[in-house]
Amino acid sequence: MKISFADISIGKTGALALVVTEGATPTGVAADLDRKTGGAIKRAMKAANFTGKAGSSVELIAPHGLTLSRIVLVGAGKSGELTATGMENIGGELVARMERAKETSVSTILDGIANGKITAGEAAARVGFGAKLRSYRFDKYKSKKKDAAAPLKSFSIGTKAATPARKAYGTLEKIADGMFLTRDLVNEPPNVLYPTEFAKRARALSKLGVKVEVLGEAAMEKLGMGSLLGVGQGSVRESQLVIMRWNGGKAGDKPVAFVGKGVCFDTGGISLKPPAGMEDMKGDMGGAACVTGLMHALAARKAKVNAVGVIGVVENMPDGNAQRPGDIVTSMSGQTIEIINTDAEGRLVLADALYYTEKRFQPKFMIDLATLTGAIMIALGKEYAGLFSNDNKLSAQLAEAGEAENEKVWRLPMGPAYDKAINSQFADMKNTGDRYGGSITAAQFLLRFVKDTKWAHLDIAGTAMASPKSSINTSWGSGWGVRLLNRLVADHYEG
Ligand code: BES
Ligand code: MN
Ligand code: ZN
Repeated sequence: MKISFADISIGKTGALALVVTEGATPTGVAADLDRKTGGAIKRAMKAANFTGKAGSSVELIAPHGLTLSRIVLVGAGKSGELTATGMENIGGELVARMERAKETSVSTILDGIANGKITAGEAAARVGFGAKLRSYRFDKYKSKKKDAAAPLKSFSIGTKAATPARKAYGTLEKIADGMFLTRDLVNEPPNVLYPTEFAKRARALSKLGVKVEVLGEAAMEKLGMGSLLGVGQGSVRESQLVIMRWNGGKAGDKPVAFVGKGVCFDTGGISLKPPAGMEDMKGDMGGAACVTGLMHALAARKAKVNAVGVIGVVENMPDGNAQRPGDIVTSMSGQTIEIINTDAEGRLVLADALYYTEKRFQPKFMIDLATLTGAIMIALGKEYAGLFSNDNKLSAQLAEAGEAENEKVWRLPMGPAYDKAINSQFADMKNTGDRYGGSITAAQFLLRFVKDTKWAHLDIAGTAMASPKSSINTSWGSGWGVRLLNRLVADHYEG
């Protein structure tokens, strides 16, 4: 789908969407259309009781006096309450509606859609962003494509602010590309996307100027990464550690760092998961996928920041050689871990990835993302990701970026009382706590591998995959986190 911006004009063919605020009487293009159609616009508004409430719409088919196929009036809500999220939802819903109607080209007119918080250019760009995000499809494994709705070919946005809109959209489009990469990686089946294949796809970022290094098992053994390697020990697929570096900032400036859990498939290992829903565990690399998509976005938009992405990519399988409950492994940090449950594997991967990242890069901060615990969904549902941190400022920045991008995070507590739940009888720690506070004890485990760097952990088990459908996303893998972290970087760590 081609998204473009132009001045306001009534086209000759295809569909026309007119975005109007609540209570506004038709002026400008709306008044022109009303005149050309012999008053049909005002009549339709009245007949449908349409006042421009957010989420409401009226449709006129083949309007008399025009060669357009249809006109849709779309409510944007009160003028003072327009938001970026609201605009994205309008763009997304329009794409869905036009595809259902088998339209191939739509022109959306935004006249006077702006307020003190959002400029006309930004509003138009966000409509485009929502349209683009909604247009995502993952149907490469469907041999019969004919049932699928024909995709819209062209989505043009008419605005008096076409130039700033085009510029703002130029950046958003790159963020969307990063999100699409994340969605693709999460959606791919686990027989296709195993660790070395994931590493290969990360390597492709080098064409955007990202420096990519891949460590295999021999290199990780040399580094002493017994915690990560233990997880992949039962798999015939080789474990990988991928390091991505984007140097868009000042030379010598400390990087910001993102670390991802990349369990390409999580059977639970010897502590085997029950069969129901196990197929979802192909998405257990959602953290790593987010880090990869984020690096794509930062590099594509040439962010003025030094950023590193480190992902631990493994497969957790039961096998004659698999790790056992009771095993004790030694992590790169030197700390020993008693394995209680081989299904608590994500923290074992992150332990070595976090330690490696801090030691090698001494970053300004480290943020890890992981589909770490089912318990986070019990606590927060699918609306918020869990946030755990040793730093109040970084937490506040994440919360604020989350509200702005509608990828929300909720901070949960940490502390010594939780930490002691992972003390082990035989080793320095064990990989599970007791029955309670499962997401918190998992976070406490991670914190034991952070020395003195500002750190935040996002538990995205509820937000990265099996996502509820929304106006801007119908994909199973949501791409969650790319926008959030891009925003964090853009607002506080660039320039
Ligand atoms: N990958 C799972 C967590 C998960 C569950 C993600 C459901 C997405 C949806 C993780 O590796 C896991 O198995 N965690 C265990 C931890 C337990 C053994 C302490 C869990 O949450 O049950
Ligand atoms: Mn697991
Ligand atoms: Zn897992």
